[in-house]
Amino acid sequence: MGPDRFEALVVREENGAFVRRIETRRIDDLPEGDLLIKVRYAALNYKDALSAAGHKGVTRRYPHTPGIEAGGVIVASRGDAFKVGEEVIVAGFDLGMNVSGAFAEYIRVPAGWALRPPATMTLREGVICGVAGFTAALSLYKLESAGLEPGGGCVLVTGATGGVGSLAISILARAGYEVAAVTGKADRGDYLRQLGAARILGRAEADDASGRALLQPQWAGVIDSVGGNILATALKSTQYGGSVAACGLVQSADLHTTVYPFILRAVTLFGIDSVHCPEDLRRLLWTRLADAWRPATLEAIAVECRLDALDEKIDLMLEGRLTGRTIVVLD
Ligand SMILES: NC(=O)c1ccc[n+]([C@@H]2O[C@H](COP(=O)([O-])OP(=O)(O)OC[C@H]3O[C@@H](n4cnc5c(N)ncnc54)[C@H](OP(=O)(O)O)[C@@H]3O)[C@@H](O)[C@H]2O)c1
Repeated sequence: MGPDRFEALVVREENGAFVRRIETRRIDDLPEGDLLIKVRYAALNYKDALSAAGHKGVTRRYPHTPGIEAGGVIVASRGDAFKVGEEVIVAGFDLGMNVSGAFAEYIRVPAGWALRPPATMTLREGVICGVAGFTAALSLYKLESAGLEPGGGCVLVTGATGGVGSLAISILARAGYEVAAVTGKADRGDYLRQLGAARILGRAEADDASGRALLQPQWAGVIDSVGGNILATALKSTQYGGSVAACGLVQSADLHTTVYPFILRAVTLFGIDSVHCPEDLRRLLWTRLADAWRPATLEAIAVECRLDALDEKIDLMLEGRLTGRTIVVLD
């Protein structure tokens, strides 16, 4: 490919359906920005799968190239913040949502969207950890702000084999917590134990249908990436004074609960938004991710693929059938 052209996954709306193809694009057609970045790694997140499927709550206009996080090398830089040749990670803001995203050989973004990878991680490790690791770290930070501490009881992680779930288990185990994992994949027990889960629950066990307002208290804390009745069940099963971090909706965006967990067990429910996290807290959490909370199992979590395999991976993600973090290698 010549220096002015590159390959990208492009989602187009055709006759009411959304189709995905690898297309050749022109660098001149990328949006304005301070940094032109040659992408080396991109990670597949659930939000990308929604964008790639035509979800207008994520992406308003098509044709579009999804991909909310990239790790790459700067090939052109306007301003003093970064030099050509530096490695950077870009995640969040509007990348891949309404700005041409990371499932492409090049992106162009404002300098304020780029971060240098933490000193203790390679660019690839930084992308494996990425948005999923940051979201898990933000969740743990919130739970600890409500008094959670190692030795205080078991922490439940839902959507356990997913990106956020896998990183949450790994970070919690590294920080010294006992972890229970909820999964729909009966054959992934070894994977979850390798990440640090001490106990594994089938999805049905964590999806209460009894209609009771409160269940046996089991969890000192919960990191939930699925929402719906699994989140409602987790709230009913949280022990006195415990807390729950809600960050996702893969089961459902609905939450039907009563106030009993809150008024009889003093349970706290935190909402987690990694996108608009204040800058000071973002830096603090990346410092922890690079050190005290550094996931020990990044390699076990990563599953690499090439750009032309993404179409199938996106469908599998929407069906809940992927394990770990899918890393697109663009070298
Ligand atoms: N708030 C934020 O800032 C933030 C940041 C990142 C992600 N998120 C959200 O977090 C969620 C997970 O994202 P991800 O990238 O980790 O996705 P992912 O890799 O696809 O993981 C989701 C996991 O949830 C489980 N699952 C799938 N369908 C399910 C269902 N119908 N009922 C119950 N569990 C189901 C599966 O794990 P098992 O088979 O092991 O159960 C699946 O692997 C998404 O909703 C995403 O939008 C939010």
